[in-house]
Amino acid sequence: MYVCSCFGITEQQVKQHADAGACTPRQIASVCKAGTDCGGCVRRIQALLGRGECPRRELLAGRAAHGEPLSSAADVRFPDAA
Ligand code: FES
Repeated sequence: MYVCSCFGITEQQVKQHADAGACTPRQIASVCKAGTDCGGCVRRIQALLGRGECPRRELLAGRAAHGEPLSSAADVRFPDAA
């Protein structure tokens, strides 16, 4: 089932990106553009992501705990990002 009709992104694709580490609608958008046109799918994407674990968030929290600087979102790369 399509989540983002503007870019033809399915629920399954969003879940795959989430499994690969994307845990916010912005991170989903960075890998597949979903949510970057009309924005009508952003709430649906957020619902799919839920409030589960976020490995990146936990990584950043771990860095902060050790006094390391937090990286910006631009430093985060996903394997299937172009
Ligand atoms: S439905 Fe996703 S950006 Fe329009």
